[in-house]
Amino acid sequence: MQIHKLCFLALLLLLAHTASAVNLNLKSSNIAFLGDAELGPAADGISRSGALSMTRDANPFSHGQGLWSLPVPFKPSSNSRSPYPFETSFTFSITPRTNPAPGHGLAFIVVPALDNSGAGPGGFLGILNKTNNGYPSNHVFAVEFDVFQDKHVGDINDNHVGVDINSVKSAVAEKAGYWVQTVIGKRRMWSFKEVKLSNGERYKAWIEYRNSKVTVTLAPEAVRKPKKPLIVAHVDLSDVFLQNMYTGFAGAMGRGIERHDIWSWTFQNSAKK
Ligand SMILES: *[C@@H]1O[C@H](CO)[C@@H](O)[C@H](O)[C@H]1NC(C)=O
Repeated sequence: MQIHKLCFLALLLLLAHTASAVNLNLKSSNIAFLGDAELGPAADGISRSGALSMTRDANPFSHGQGLWSLPVPFKPSSNSRSPYPFETSFTFSITPRTNPAPGHGLAFIVVPALDNSGAGPGGFLGILNKTNNGYPSNHVFAVEFDVFQDKHVGDINDNHVGVDINSVKSAVAEKAGYWVQTVIGKRRMWSFKEVKLSNGERYKAWIEYRNSKVTVTLAPEAVRKPKKPLIVAHVDLSDVFLQNMYTGFAGAMGRGIERHDIWSWTFQNSAKK
């Protein structure tokens, strides 16, 4: 087995309108840890695994958020209807510690504040709760990687990816997997490969937003970015995003124990620094 990097590193790129780019190294000092989020423990229980972890094994119904600690501009002004295009990619793993697979999942999130007091565990994924779920006043955008079927929030199965707008009831969801192109004779065919998100393996996800279109692409870490996304969602986020937002990750357990780990992260948008 490979020895994992001991230090959680990622890159936040805020691209200026000019060609110059700002690269920031993401270390624990750049992250706001809310709820149970922490730099995850290694197997020895003493050192750190290198992951940004959303949940803690010892806390039943654990949930947390790990957010870039500085606000990120998502629109040029508060009343603008033109959010900046952005793209982000990250690697993650979801590792059950109890049987049957306990849930519940993790998500890339964009939220209005460094405050998770309105977040709950289980199917709420550490993003929202029963009371506030679904309201436009939430100003929450998320892409969930959900490994438990919570029928009360409309989950399609226990292994899916969803685009969430102000609600953990996804606007669009697909079973987890990726598209591969194969050539049969002279014809190019797309075939779908399912993956099991909660098998402890590392996956990479790519999320892009541009011109009211969100694309989400997923693959095992060792696989190159598939040319065909898993999800293409036509959603206008101009009312969801405020001028400045916070971005990062959320995750939650239910009664059983499951790890929700982020291993690397890049984010970039076209905001002027
Ligand atoms: C949900 O969060 C809100 C704060 O946004 C809080 O007032 C409410 O009591 C919470 N509801 C539950 C069921 O935890």
